[in-house]
Amino acid sequence: MERHCVFIATAVMMIYLVQAQDTTGFINVDCGLPPYESPYNTTTTGLAYTSDTDFVNSGKTGRIAKEFEPDYDEPILTLRYFPEGIRNCYHLNVTRDINYMIKATFVYGNYDNANDDPSFDLYFGPIFWVTVSSNNTREEIIHVTKSNSLQVCLVRTGATVPFINVLELRPLPKTDYVTPRGGSLNLIFRVYLSNSGFGIRYPEDIYDRTWNSYFDKELWAEVTTNLTVNVDKSNELPHGVMATGATPLNEKDALNMTWDVEPPTAKSYIYMYFAELKTLRANDTREFNMTLNGKYLSGPYSPIPLEAQTITAEEQQCDEGACLLQLVKTLNSSLPPLLNAMEIFTVIDFPQMETNDDDVAGIKSIQDTYGLSRISWQGDPCVPEKFLWDGLNCDNSKNSSPPIITSLDLSSSNLTGNITQAIENLSHLQKLNLSNNNLTGEIPEFLAYIKSLLVIDLTGNNFTGSVPPSLLQKKGMELNVDNNPHLLCAADSCVNKEENGHTKKSIVVPVVASISSLAVLVVAIFIFLVLKKKKAAKVEGRRPSYMNASHSGSSQPEIMMKNRRFTYSEVMSMTNNFQRVIGKGGFGIVYHGFVNGTEQVAVKILSHSSSQGYKQFKAEVELLLRVHHKNLVSLVGYCDEGENLTLIYEYMANGDLKEHMSGTRNRFILNWGTRLKIVIEAAHGLEYLHNGCRPPMVHRDVKTTNILLNEHFEAKLADFGLSRSFPTEGETHVSTVVAGTPGYLDPEYYRTNWLTEKSDVYSFGIVLLEIITNRPVMDQSREKPHIAEWVGLMLTEGDITSIMDPSLNGLYDSGSVWKALELAMSCVNPSSTRRPTMSEVIIGLNECLANENSRGGAGRDMDSKSSIEVSLILGSEVSPTAR
Ligand SMILES: *[C@@H]1O[C@H](CO)[C@@H](O)[C@H](O)[C@H]1NC(C)=O
Ligand SMILES: *[C@@H]1O[C@H](CO)[C@@H](O)[C@H](O)[C@H]1NC(C)=O
Ligand SMILES: *[C@@H]1O[C@H](CO)[C@@H](O)[C@H](O)[C@H]1NC(C)=O
Ligand SMILES: *[C@@H]1O[C@H](CO)[C@@H](O)[C@H](O)[C@H]1NC(C)=O
Ligand SMILES: *[C@@H]1O[C@H](CO)[C@@H](O)[C@H](O)[C@H]1NC(C)=O
Ligand SMILES: *[C@@H]1O[C@H](CO)[C@@H](O)[C@H](O)[C@H]1NC(C)=O
Ligand SMILES: *[C@@H]1O[C@H](CO)[C@@H](O)[C@H](O)[C@H]1NC(C)=O
Ligand SMILES: *[C@@H]1O[C@H](CO)[C@@H](O)[C@H](O)[C@H]1NC(C)=O
Ligand SMILES: *[C@@H]1O[C@H](CO)[C@@H](O)[C@H](O)[C@H]1NC(C)=O
Ligand SMILES: *[C@@H]1O[C@H](CO)[C@@H](O)[C@H](O)[C@H]1NC(C)=O
Repeated sequence: MERHCVFIATAVMMIYLVQAQDTTGFINVDCGLPPYESPYNTTTTGLAYTSDTDFVNSGKTGRIAKEFEPDYDEPILTLRYFPEGIRNCYHLNVTRDINYMIKATFVYGNYDNANDDPSFDLYFGPIFWVTVSSNNTREEIIHVTKSNSLQVCLVRTGATVPFINVLELRPLPKTDYVTPRGGSLNLIFRVYLSNSGFGIRYPEDIYDRTWNSYFDKELWAEVTTNLTVNVDKSNELPHGVMATGATPLNEKDALNMTWDVEPPTAKSYIYMYFAELKTLRANDTREFNMTLNGKYLSGPYSPIPLEAQTITAEEQQCDEGACLLQLVKTLNSSLPPLLNAMEIFTVIDFPQMETNDDDVAGIKSIQDTYGLSRISWQGDPCVPEKFLWDGLNCDNSKNSSPPIITSLDLSSSNLTGNITQAIENLSHLQKLNLSNNNLTGEIPEFLAYIKSLLVIDLTGNNFTGSVPPSLLQKKGMELNVDNNPHLLCAADSCVNKEENGHTKKSIVVPVVASISSLAVLVVAIFIFLVLKKKKAAKVEGRRPSYMNASHSGSSQPEIMMKNRRFTYSEVMSMTNNFQRVIGKGGFGIVYHGFVNGTEQVAVKILSHSSSQGYKQFKAEVELLLRVHHKNLVSLVGYCDEGENLTLIYEYMANGDLKEHMSGTRNRFILNWGTRLKIVIEAAHGLEYLHNGCRPPMVHRDVKTTNILLNEHFEAKLADFGLSRSFPTEGETHVSTVVAGTPGYLDPEYYRTNWLTEKSDVYSFGIVLLEIITNRPVMDQSREKPHIAEWVGLMLTEGDITSIMDPSLNGLYDSGSVWKALELAMSCVNPSSTRRPTMSEVIIGLNECLANENSRGGAGRDMDSKSSIEVSLILGSEVSPTAR
């Protein structure tokens, strides 16, 4: 089978009369044209072409070699090539929701004297269009714009440098060339069957489609007419296209057209154009069927004399991407089949949406304001993901369509001048980093109005004035303004700077010991709680309205989100009149409840008798509103109504780690791998408090009863009633008590009153010793009552079996246990400086878990949730030794 190569790209030797005509909406870009020659009118079409300098901000200009010049139209002669960067884009202003035909012409013409044929990819917006791999081609796509800007991007894929000669946009009527699901049409070819050798385009084709003449002299006979063909009803076809056609020379033969599609699964759109050009005699008939790869497509059909008609076949797939269209004469027909013209497209559906318009406008304006010339800042900022702009993070997930910009990092980018208002356009921003620039002026208040923006780093600039109160008061805001020598001090954001600018990470809170109140302070609450996954989303969803409330100038920083505030009567109804108690602690009773009918919550009622209660209540609410982490129990709401102080947490269905260690909750014991997984998760929560929060937080009450487990046995740290960050204003040197739980309390903190994150590391070390030994933290009947001392003593004997929890029956990797023991002992080092950081602890524990997982048998695959459950059940039902 002969496959006709149907391709001719350029409008070679087109000769037309120049006619002035209304060309509104055409965009004609002559790439690489020097601005001083722009605009000019071409002799062939009379259309005015402009230089591309307004549409692109990268690349270099070139010109095809002299020898090729006679073959091409003026717009093709110059070109722009892109030796730098992976993706370079043209940005065009268009009208949203217009069906545009976009044409891009690539004629290599040995412009670089390298005689190296090109290969690179072409994208429109974020969507892959086609690979350009010919030295002489025009690509065309028909696409409905989704916004007021359109990008055509050239993407380097190998050694060759992308280039482009001409870029043209033509608006089409909404009714032509539409696909049922809104996909774009990529042109494979557009031909009229004629021996003329001439291309037809504007002005004969008012949409400036380029019709190449195509003819197979060996197989076909040309049919033409001098009469007028009526083209009104068919796509505004040019008369010249319809007044000619082809029929097979051998009257019995089919008229064949072939093409290939890439990828082979791509669906073809076939537009066939017919008009009977012969004057038929009374006994003449021309009738034929259309088939695609032998399958019936349409027919029997007879062209209408001198009247253009279109037959369209949508979404056709061909085996292995090789398509053979045949017009087959029917038995009744006295004349062979006739075809005048045809177009073949493939459909490009949209896997990828373009980034939110406002975000795009915002980031562009930021780019312009600061003159940022980052190489990757080309094309769509967020999509496709592999071309994400350097310094941005986006949410491209399904729940955010279109994609949005969530973080912007312009640290160390030589920025000068004020913070630009354009940042306000990025209305979904969560993190902003402008640190280490030379920004000046005041810190603008609008930053507080970007609802989702909760992390701002402005360190190392030259800001003046003071931090806007609305920013300081915004709940959950982590603002860092260190190293701005001219910034006036404002509230607690500057405490950091004054107090310990040199030791940024360690928080030093002088406190006065008061052992007597220790007991009072033990906030032992058993919150068993949880919340179905959707809860998180819901809480998230509430945030904005709270933010509105908070930046409205309220000077009540400690009062929190209105939407999360419940009345006492709501608390009563959610707990069904305090029906089900799920825990008791020093500060009150914890009840089970429901919010919104179905979401389970744990409701902690603070007892009236507690003198410390209100302060800690406030501390906890404020902290939980500020921090969000999957390993920290989250706050669903609270009630602050006179005497009635209530905290409402997510429900953690599986209680606390201590119960599981002691076996009081279930009959089974946790295996070693699961224990490690739980403490690793708790460690992540703690690490977040230390390093992820600004200012950092010290939990102050890390212990096994404060590590809670949800329905999936995921661990979360709870009870922030004692947590401290920085002393708040006016409280810088206030006497506060050493707080914590005996046995877990860092002896150095107890002795010196200096509180640092390392105190949490100490307490965490005790937790590790508990999961290793499964013995009480304090046991007066032991030779050494305190667990750390006892383990230290046992270690001198060098035998882990006497230290390790006997109920594990030796089912653990001893290397893993040794490593964990070593880690635990370093955490409880009496000197805080010798203790590891939580980040180091996490690394160590992950190694322990890896060792344990590489052991065969019961401890494997611990990180899969289902296998944890299975192993728990096995542990309860089957003696591990039986396996
Ligand atoms: C180019 O063509 C436009 C009409 O399309 C006409 O108004 C204009 O004068 C022409 N310019 C030149 C330089 O010929
Ligand atoms: C595109 O539109 C924007 C805003 O409407 C305008 O600032 C810009 O100059 C336009 N660009 C071109 C090349 O017309
Ligand atoms: C394209 O490549 C062919 C074969 O290498 C060469 O003969 C032709 O001149 C090239 N044309 C252009 C426009 O570069
Ligand atoms: C059309 O007209 C030209 C010249 O007027 C003539 O040579 C040609 O044969 C005519 N073609 C047909 C199909 O009538
Ligand atoms: C058309 O294609 C069929 C099937 O490949 C072939 O048998 C036939 O010879 C072709 N006809 C012409 C005119 O090329
Ligand atoms: C059709 O009619 C013409 C005379 O009008 C005759 O010469 C010709 O043979 C007929 N053709 C067929 C297929 O009957
Ligand atoms: C043309 O199509 C019709 C309708 O499907 C069918 O009956 C007929 O046999 C076909 N003719 C040929 C020659 O394929
Ligand atoms: C900032 O400016 C310095 C000195 O002019 C230069 O070395 C550095 O590359 C620039 N950094 C960026 C990110 O532009
Ligand atoms: C920052 O800008 C100020 C004035 O705009 C200038 O005096 C100073 O040298 C700049 N500092 C740096 C580090 O570029
Ligand atoms: C920068 O901000 C200051 C006040 O913060 C203002 O007075 C000044 O006009 C701003 N400059 C520019 C260029 O916007």
